[in-house]
Amino acid sequence: MSDDSRPSPAQSRTAAVIPAAGRGVRLGPGAPKALRTLNGTPMLVHAVRALAASRAVSLVIVVAPPDGTAEVKSLLDAHALPDRTDFVVVPGGESRQESVKLGLDALPPDYGVVLVHDAARPLVPVDTVDAVIEAVRAGAVAVVPGLPLADTVKEVEPAAAPGDPEPVVATPARSRLRAVQTPQGFDRQTLLRAHETVGDDVTDDASMVEQLGERVVVVPGHEEAFKVTRPLDLVLAEAVLARRRLNVGF
Ligand code: C5P
Repeated sequence: MSDDSRPSPAQSRTAAVIPAAGRGVRLGPGAPKALRTLNGTPMLVHAVRALAASRAVSLVIVVAPPDGTAEVKSLLDAHALPDRTDFVVVPGGESRQESVKLGLDALPPDYGVVLVHDAARPLVPVDTVDAVIEAVRAGAVAVVPGLPLADTVKEVEPAAAPGDPEPVVATPARSRLRAVQTPQGFDRQTLLRAHETVGDDVTDDASMVEQLGERVVVVPGHEEAFKVTRPLDLVLAEAVLARRRLNVGF
């Protein structure tokens, strides 16, 4: 990159964008997923706290449902958050990637490292957040936390009708697969370039950077960074919180 006035990732500040504009239909009817509560606190507040727990993160940009920006702002105001972190709420878009782009549009110039974190992963441990930031500061342009898989994965020819048998096309070697989580961490310019040039038919931001031909690396993820998707995940998330409370002793 030719602009020498731009801070390098090693020196510059870190912001987190949290897309939280999805409806979360797989959880069943009710409030938008990010506003569902875990032990009485909205999932989004857990996610914001999880990112702000990192001392490296000085700004959190929450992307809210377009009709729910005021509600999300007052939600953040109503819950204790660290003073050293700034919080901004912007309205989201039709797709996850559009929501992320709208969050990136709100990023001030002096932030060279950007994390993108799903509100649906409310319990990511701070050590995982810090490991991602460290890897970007050390020079990686795109970093994703990931875990080895317990299940063998088959690639299939998807059935025309739900429930029909699906022919198997391939079985990738499980030892080479990782299930990736968030926060995904990026050099700011690389992520902006990806969002400007790559179509948004993707399920994560790192794959957009891959499509640019840039190198993406995986660092160890954490089982508590799982995505709350189905009703059973809410039970698991509350169990994790209960275990944490026991360990902390209050
Ligand atoms: O639907 P999925 O679980 O993949 O959504 C991942 C994240 O993207 C969620 O945190 C969701 O709130 C967010 N999202 C968004 N804007 C959309 C759709 C999803 O911010 N239009």
